[in-house]
Amino acid sequence: MGLNEEKLAAAVAAFTVDTDELQAAAAAFRYDIERGLEGNTESTLPLLPAYLGLPTGEEQGEYLALDFGGTNVRVLRLQLLGHGRFTTLAKAAAPLRVPGQYDYTGSSATATELFDFIAGQVDAVLDGDHQTPYRLGHTFSFPSSQKDLRDARLLHWTKEFATSGVEGAYVNAFLQEALLRRGIGNVQPTAVINDTVAVLLAAAYERGDTYIGSIYATGQNNCYLESYGGQRPAMILNMESGNFAKLLPNTYDLQLDAASEKPERQRLEKMVSGRYLGELFTLAMEDIQGRPLPSSFTSQDMAELLSDATAGAKVLQRVVGIPFSAAEAAALQLLAASILRRSARLVAAAYTGVLWHQAGSGPIVPQQIAIDGSVYEKMPLVQETLTQAMAELLEEDAGKVQLRLASGGSGLGAALAAAMCMEK
Ligand code: BGC
Repeated sequence: MGLNEEKLAAAVAAFTVDTDELQAAAAAFRYDIERGLEGNTESTLPLLPAYLGLPTGEEQGEYLALDFGGTNVRVLRLQLLGHGRFTTLAKAAAPLRVPGQYDYTGSSATATELFDFIAGQVDAVLDGDHQTPYRLGHTFSFPSSQKDLRDARLLHWTKEFATSGVEGAYVNAFLQEALLRRGIGNVQPTAVINDTVAVLLAAAYERGDTYIGSIYATGQNNCYLESYGGQRPAMILNMESGNFAKLLPNTYDLQLDAASEKPERQRLEKMVSGRYLGELFTLAMEDIQGRPLPSSFTSQDMAELLSDATAGAKVLQRVVGIPFSAAEAAALQLLAASILRRSARLVAAAYTGVLWHQAGSGPIVPQQIAIDGSVYEKMPLVQETLTQAMAELLEEDAGKVQLRLASGGSGLGAALAAAMCMEK
């Protein structure tokens, strides 16, 4: 069976963002930041205060860091050495879901089961030491509202998490109870931050000119240092930019949203993040093939397809269940590329919205944007498309802004937050 070329071309067009649309997306982003800061409910950006500014770079001491935000939970024991340096003393990691064995991310799991499991990972980095007092920083990568740095209330799950009894509740209270149930009285969870905030703290610990932190992975989100025009102390705001909803969805976006755990929420995230890229490709392929597929593509499948048409033909055959020629795979590379390019272009629009807001009516503030995550780090086309789109948007100012891969900031950022809560 040959490919339906008309349908393929229409699907590629549905994922294409031209320069005008890119400019409009960045402007809409800036608009929502500014309305959001005024407390105007028309904004789709939550802009959640992190109760933290940037680190001094001199933070020191031994801390525990918990990184909870994806399907793996990680705990580190870290020694902050000051001057942007640190060493890792111990680490533990475990998946929250092992198919056929257990799943703490689904609705059949309870908050108690989830946090008891996490407390077990904390125990693993203590080497049996239930005496030495430790402060624990918790990178919790879901939209949460805070009244202070100490604890955070989960607003709603994202990334298809559904563990019962956590939405609306305080996560460090759960963690503290779980630690005590395990006989760990010496660990005090003292700070909760978003993973974007962790990336920003970690990058700013090393160098001063970083004001935007970004995660581009299973989920996508950004935070930035809001200066409030000097009227109030500067504070990092977790934008929850994945919730941005001022873009026109295409037919595949609408189908994906309708079938998701949380329809209507995280509209931008569902267009750009690693959790959803493969699903968008699957929906477009179903449209092109005119029938449901026996299984779904993952973002890794898309990466493989893009790397080589012959290998791509095998991936297509495995997922779709019928043979594809290398020429057909090459044609379908265009579809995968258009989905990835749209993702990177929309993320560039989000960064630019922040840069335009920071600039006000003045010049763009020179800086590095710290970015962590597998999509940014590993997916084909993403880095170069982002850089090109930033150049398209910022024109002659493009040289003032550097995108910087800042991997592994979640643990360091959490430890810094625990240290910074002592500075407050
Ligand atoms: C969450 C954010 C998080 C992002 C990246 C999103 O689904 O809402 O809080 O920063 O994923 O992990």
